Amino acid sequence: MTKPQAKDPLMQPLTIRGLTLKNRVMSTSHASAMDDNNMPALRYQRYYEEKAKGGLALTMFGGSSNIAPDSPSVFNQLNAGTDEIIPYFQEFAERIHQHGTALMC
Ligand SMILES: Cc1cc2nc3c(=O)[nH]c(=O)nc-3n(C[C@H](O)[C@H](O)[C@H](O)COP(=O)(O)O)c2cc1C
Repeated sequence: MTKPQAKDPLMQPLTIRGLTLKNRVMSTSHASAMDDNNMPALRYQRYYEEKAKGGLALTMFGGSSNIAPDSPSVFNQLNAGTDEIIPYFQEFAERIHQHGTALMC
């Protein structure tokens, strides 16, 4: 018997340019304040991973991340204005991709 979700439009894949999302369920951006010194370390990643395990196709992270040095963190945002964040992003992406979930910041 066909599972009910097989016909649910919300559960159908969606391709945007080269990226195919496995369904139309996403988590929108918010400041989780789970960073460590403005880096997305283990606690931050695991928070997003738990949501990915729930079946999200896309997870937005980062809240209002910082880039410019004259616009510093005021509520525990990520600092994406330094290369120090790159290894965190790599580990984070691998962790979330394991669940078939895409990320955007
Ligand atoms: C960069 C960015 C940061 C956001 N940060 C928060 C946040 O910290 N808390 C929050 O409730 N919503 C935040 N939002 C808004 C939510 O992601 C979401 O769009 C909003 O709650 C509306 O949800 P709805 O479209 O389901 O009604 C943020 C949105 C963006 C684009």
